[in-house]
Amino acid sequence: MSYRMRVPCSYQGGKQRVAAQIADHLLEAAPGSNSRFYDLCCGSAAVSIELVNRGVDPSRIWMLDISSWGAFWSAIGSGKFNMSAFDKFLSELPADKREFKAHMSSLSMLPVGDHEVELYPLLQACSFGGKQIWRNGEHWANACFRDYWEPTATSIRRSPANPMQPSPTELRRRIEALVNGMKGVTCLNMDIMTVLSTPLPCDAVVYVDPPYQNTTRYAYNFDIKSFINRFQEKNDVPLFVSEGSPLNANATMLTFGGAKGGISGIRKGKHQEWLNRF
Ligand SMILES: C[S@@+](CC[C@H](N)C(=O)[O-])C[C@H]1O[C@@H](n2cnc3c(N)ncnc32)[C@H](O)[C@@H]1O
Repeated sequence: MSYRMRVPCSYQGGKQRVAAQIADHLLEAAPGSNSRFYDLCCGSAAVSIELVNRGVDPSRIWMLDISSWGAFWSAIGSGKFNMSAFDKFLSELPADKREFKAHMSSLSMLPVGDHEVELYPLLQACSFGGKQIWRNGEHWANACFRDYWEPTATSIRRSPANPMQPSPTELRRRIEALVNGMKGVTCLNMDIMTVLSTPLPCDAVVYVDPPYQNTTRYAYNFDIKSFINRFQEKNDVPLFVSEGSPLNANATMLTFGGAKGGISGIRKGKHQEWLNRF
């Protein structure tokens, strides 16, 4: 593959900045060249995308999310994502960025209908602060959108802030790459607890990225400690769990590189990312 796939858009708790480090751990733990990777609570799928970018065949990846992301990745994996329906939503976006917020608000007030998976990436790309927008029956919930913002003479920020990030053109480029590159993944749109009903294959490597304790809430949640205990009673495979703090003695703090990282490249801030191995 000549290009690297990217997550459709930024998402609350998304792992794109640390996905390479997480993938290193998962690949190292894999017992064989055919082992299966489970990305549970996959959201925007930063980790699964990184694995496929590294050469893992999509057929070796099993994802799960109870939200519309689960429905989206299921459609991508099975080849059922309707590119024409997605293009229609894109073509109806207003030419003037100042009108995006009102347009997205009206779209989010319509019944969800048949095109949940084609509309969802647009809604989420316009979501204020990348906060989770979710489906509640036939309605969208928590739909709150960004406004177009332009700097004034006294603003510190000098460039405008776009209501949709990435831009419609870039979103289309990313989705088209994902439609081709992620075809073949399996994604279950259900509660993580259903995974506990049968043991996973003995060559599985499992990654779970739950909603963090004490952070902005998602529509859905579960008790991660009880999940870990019940998972270990049923399975004897490597289990990795992300959290904002260490959960056991076998935890690694991940690092954020980049411009604000200082000399060592490690950003010193309040937010921490830990990968806990069980
Ligand atoms: C921290 S986010 C995952 C972010 C993801 N790793 C990414 O890179 O975008 C947590 C995810 O857990 C999902 N979730 C929360 N409770 C769940 C449950 N009981 N079963 C399945 N998924 C759940 C949410 O829908 C959300 O997408």
